[in-house]
Amino acid sequence: MSYFGVDYYPEHWSASQMEEDLSGIKNLGANMIRIGEFAWHLMEPKEGEFDFSFFDTVIERAKAYHLKVMFGTPTATFPAWLAKKYPSILSEDEYGTLREFGGRRQYCFNSDVYRQYSARITRELVKHYANEEAIVVWQVDNEFGHEGSDDCYCGPCREAFQTFLRGKYNDIQELNERWGTIFWGQSYNDFNEIPAPAPTITTHNPSLKLDWARFRSYSLNSFAHEMTEIVREEKGAHQEITTNTTGDFFNKWFDHEENLQPMDFVSYDNYPVWGGLEQPIPPAEIAMALDFNRGLKDQNFWIVEELIGAQGHDVIGYLPRPNQAKLWSYQAFAHGCSNMLYFRWRGMTRGAEQFCYGVVDHDNQYGRKYREAQEVFQTMSNFEPLLEAPIEADVAVLYDYDNIWAWRSQIQTKDFDFKQEFMRLYQPFYDVNTKLDVIPADRDFSKYKVVVVPAMQVLDEDLANRLKEFAKAGGTVIFSFRAGLKDKDNTIYFGQPLPGPVADLAGIRVEEIESLTAEHRLSVKGEHELAEEESHMAIWRDLIVPEGAEVLYRYSDYFYKEYAAVTRNSYGRGEAYYIGGGLDVEGLRKIVKNIVTKHHIGFEESTRGVEVYSRKVKGEEYQFIMNHTDEEVSYDGIVLFPYETLLVEVK
Ligand code: GAL
Repeated sequence: MSYFGVDYYPEHWSASQMEEDLSGIKNLGANMIRIGEFAWHLMEPKEGEFDFSFFDTVIERAKAYHLKVMFGTPTATFPAWLAKKYPSILSEDEYGTLREFGGRRQYCFNSDVYRQYSARITRELVKHYANEEAIVVWQVDNEFGHEGSDDCYCGPCREAFQTFLRGKYNDIQELNERWGTIFWGQSYNDFNEIPAPAPTITTHNPSLKLDWARFRSYSLNSFAHEMTEIVREEKGAHQEITTNTTGDFFNKWFDHEENLQPMDFVSYDNYPVWGGLEQPIPPAEIAMALDFNRGLKDQNFWIVEELIGAQGHDVIGYLPRPNQAKLWSYQAFAHGCSNMLYFRWRGMTRGAEQFCYGVVDHDNQYGRKYREAQEVFQTMSNFEPLLEAPIEADVAVLYDYDNIWAWRSQIQTKDFDFKQEFMRLYQPFYDVNTKLDVIPADRDFSKYKVVVVPAMQVLDEDLANRLKEFAKAGGTVIFSFRAGLKDKDNTIYFGQPLPGPVADLAGIRVEEIESLTAEHRLSVKGEHELAEEESHMAIWRDLIVPEGAEVLYRYSDYFYKEYAAVTRNSYGRGEAYYIGGGLDVEGLRKIVKNIVTKHHIGFEESTRGVEVYSRKVKGEEYQFIMNHTDEEVSYDGIVLFPYETLLVEVK
């Protein structure tokens, strides 16, 4: 059964409001409410005095309306008494400034005290409701790592970092060697001399920074897993466990796949627009985020916060146009969301989120947004088997957090942005409506036909070998610039030309490099089947000498006319493309079309802004046809209104 519902915060409203709210929620077509995730103080108003009576009542009333419950463990916001008693639980930013009590998520993952108190409230809460049949899901904490909460430079974190390194390296000599601390005379005699990478003059050792990132990930995930373990020990057999991820996952200091590993399913908070944005993020980026979440466990996922109204803390932004939030909901269902809850039932009159608008606004009228949510639930409740059906893609785009973190601390060109480089290769497939999976690089990718490897500068022998096997067996690999630059210690490969361990797979040698800006528009000219094409590069360029590969694009400027910009190499029964810079989407479109055609991968030309996503269930095929534009468009003879979605069976 699919769950549809809203995030409901009955503690924000007078008790007399609840009956009307639950009835309104029920009439929306909902069968679930998500509650509790910020209510620690309500459950433990004084140290050790637990009181769940408020939620007992909420759950009793929800049951009267046949609503199931997702309950959040409340550790994302702790009570003031805890911070007062133990200021050491508060995290510190890189300048050593204590994060005050008052916002949220400002706790330190390495605070033993915080862990103890979190463990206790989590255990008490879950134990109290283990037999509650209405609670079917536990959400652990809320949005781990969000809003900068995954980094902390406090004393205990620094010590824990040293302990982490002691566990990783056999001795300090090994660390010195692998980090190259001989540089600038930074050799350590003891682990206890090692700093956190807080601000200093110029920059820290890149290997230290990468290990710090891994340590941050370890700190967060070990906290998350400890809490998950407690929930698992105490919960009822009918209750499942999840946690909710946020959209900014490439800018976080923790490995998301590992984070979700002990949970039963992935939940995602889908906000295509947020405070201050003039426009929503592009449809392809929204799609990529959905694919990323599906890829975390290779299975369909929940959305537990789906935007319905404008959002912002201090600054509000773009107002989703009529039907646009609905379109985003359908897009999410298309890409594998199986259960959906809207954020939030009603905007709050007080507190930090006065300007986060919900299904209902402060005027408490059931208006346009209410009707839109109602329509979505009504429609999708007729398609439950489809929502559960797995999605099969032939193309996978790989990412690796070590690689992302290495980029984050050394962007190499002032306009480098990992997500943008990722999207550069994702977008042309999306544009022809080809399904993609977004998966970690250590996942087995042998079942795909095409594997895309954007900006993979940290690329070890293991990944190189798996990519070679994949190509040998007939697959197509697509690399972009900086591939194969560094090993897992963040050390540049010595004595071998770029792209390092995949140079033979790509059939090229990168002779020199140039870091460009986003404003650059270097002209490149097509050859072979691209002979008529001219395209442009920004951000970066590799000056490529083919060693067996054929040239698809070559630079046009005087000094570098001889060098290739984009190449293709046959390898075994397959091939490898190498894109030596930030080639514009137009330049990539033709290449991608050739690739999907060659592999007989489904693709569909559609008017710009129209996304078509097909799903199969029990021998039937359906298409979500989505108009992401504010104009009428037509697809296959059908006219779609601005932001309209059609869900049609393909006969
Ligand atoms: C999410 C968060 C919610 C709420 C919402 C506002 O990031 O999980 O608690 O803050 O944003 O849009």
